[in-house]
Amino acid sequence: MGRLNKRLDPTLSGLETEQLETDLRKRIVGQEEAIEQIVNIYQTYLAGMSSPGRPVGNLLFLGPTGSGKTRMVEAAAESLVGDVRAVIKIDCAEFQHSHEIAKLIGSPPGYLGHRETHPLLSQEVLNQYHTERMKLSLVLFDEIEKASDALWNLLLGILDKATLTLGDNRRVDFSRALIFMTSNLGAAEMNSLLRPNLGFAAFDAERRQASGLVDGGLSEKVSRAGVEAARRKFTPEFMNRIDKTVVFRPLGEAELRKILALELNIVQQRIFSSAHGAPFVFSLTDEAQDFLLREGTDMKYGARHLKRAIDRNLVHSLSNLIATEQVRAGDLLRVDYDCELQRLTFFTEAEDMPAYAMAQMVDRTSAPRVGALSASAVVEMPRAVNAKSSRR
Ligand SMILES: Nc1ncnc2c1ncn2[C@@H]1O[C@H](COP(=O)(O)OP(=O)(O)OP(=O)(O)O)[C@@H](O)[C@H]1O
Ligand SMILES: [Mg+2]
Repeated sequence: MGRLNKRLDPTLSGLETEQLETDLRKRIVGQEEAIEQIVNIYQTYLAGMSSPGRPVGNLLFLGPTGSGKTRMVEAAAESLVGDVRAVIKIDCAEFQHSHEIAKLIGSPPGYLGHRETHPLLSQEVLNQYHTERMKLSLVLFDEIEKASDALWNLLLGILDKATLTLGDNRRVDFSRALIFMTSNLGAAEMNSLLRPNLGFAAFDAERRQASGLVDGGLSEKVSRAGVEAARRKFTPEFMNRIDKTVVFRPLGEAELRKILALELNIVQQRIFSSAHGAPFVFSLTDEAQDFLLREGTDMKYGARHLKRAIDRNLVHSLSNLIATEQVRAGDLLRVDYDCELQRLTFFTEAEDMPAYAMAQMVDRTSAPRVGALSASAVVEMPRAVNAKSSRR
């Protein structure tokens, strides 16, 4: 047999992995390292190269509040399973006492109520979103620094041996689970580095300037503060079981602006797929966007309050306009900001637009998916508009 010496490219990834990466990039702004880690783990899993007898991956997400840690896991579920609800989420703070642990693993036989308790972490729960094609479970332990000792021991067992023993001694197998853990550890140190009083412009300028330095960048400092806080708090026994610790970067103005666009698109999709059947398109002026950014984002809480600001200032008003039929199927709405009134104002820019014209105006790729059926509803064109008949 002749010697081939054909050069191979180990940096290429498979189609399914590429799809995951594209989906995550569409939904998550600015957290490249976390995306890369998830994609790598998924590729290893698909190739059947994950370590046997361990979870598919154990990832620890640190970083400032509102920077996308939880959203990243949801986005992975949307991409892999087609449903944001496929994340099995354990809020560690809710399982402090032994009777609460019983909610997770069920109580031993003989205990009062044993038959009625359905453990939150049973094999059925873990496998409920499995399909012929996709047999991966996504498990999220949120705020692990708040876990009680009992929960902590369960977690160590899962991370190391991919097994959990339930109250009635049944075993739950986590070897097809991707485990995510999040923590706000080091948040105080990170926040003091972020200096909340600094405006966005100054922050971005500082970041740009710092990025030229070897280790003086603000993001790097924040990153180090997070990892050091984790090492101080968590035992080496725990840290050794983590495949990768990712510190989410604090979000600057440009990133928050992109997240606003994503969130507005989600509202637009809701209008298109809503049961009231009168699809219309809205568009925000720069001033209106600046207002929502001021209301919903800051250095300390990232994008955490953005949705609430959008609901309070935009969705609520849109709902009133729909209910009073001031906005109707086929309308193009301009949303502006009035400095004197200090609130958003709404104007009809066009009427009777056909469905295809409305669909062309909006990006239909990044809205969240809930359930297989509504997933297809989300990407459908808005229902055909019979604007005239819907008008009074
Ligand atoms: N990087 C990001 N990309 C896209 N959306 C984001 C990002 N960061 C935050 N968001 C938006 O802000 C909301 C809150 O973010 P998320 O819940 O992921 O924060 P977190 O990092 O988990 O914060 P906490 O530590 O307080 O739990 C998300 O639902 C999403 O709408
Ligand atoms: Mg979170």
